[in-house]
Amino acid sequence: MRYRLGRTLITAPEIQARVQELATIISRDYVDRDLLLICVLKGAAIFWADLCRALCIPCQSDFVAMESYGDSLSPSKEPRFTKAADVSLTDRDILIVEDIIDTGRTNARLQQILRRASPKSLAMCALLDKVERRQVATPIEYCGFVIPNAFVVGYGLDLAQQYRHLPHIALLESLPET
Ligand code: IMP
Ligand code: MG
Repeated sequence: MRYRLGRTLITAPEIQARVQELATIISRDYVDRDLLLICVLKGAAIFWADLCRALCIPCQSDFVAMESYGDSLSPSKEPRFTKAADVSLTDRDILIVEDIIDTGRTNARLQQILRRASPKSLAMCALLDKVERRQVATPIEYCGFVIPNAFVVGYGLDLAQQYRHLPHIALLESLPET
């Protein structure tokens, strides 16, 4: 299947406004706590960069990466870390920063692994929630936008490593085979 960039779903100013709103709420909720942002590479990198700069409280950041999986993987194979956090997570107030929650499987697995380190609290901040696709229930304490069941790119999200640099979120259009 061949694809091309489709119409804009969320504009750059809409994203920036929502990131500011989320940062204000997070700054209020985590004031006088021990906030550690865990950015899930690679998709969340741009969201994390804007979000953390909009916070008005102290925080630390670290990065994890999860193995991606396709539908070809058997359900018994769960995503695992390809990069673990470097700092200690014990007794920290951890806020996971994700690009998108789709089936919920990656996040469920990530939370399971992080909980083993006994954080003080663990919450999720996701820019996008593709709620119709959910297979594993997963709470999202801070959600940017609920989106329809469509593949989206831009603002960190990719197709084969392309389109991450776009300042907006766009749909992909499939092209007829020639
Ligand atoms: P999960 O299905 O919730 O485990 O999501 C796994 C990962 O798939 C996400 O973290 C994204 O990196 C990727 N993903 C899911 N939907 C999209 C999309 O529409 N565009 C780009 N990446 C996506
Ligand atoms: Mg991701």
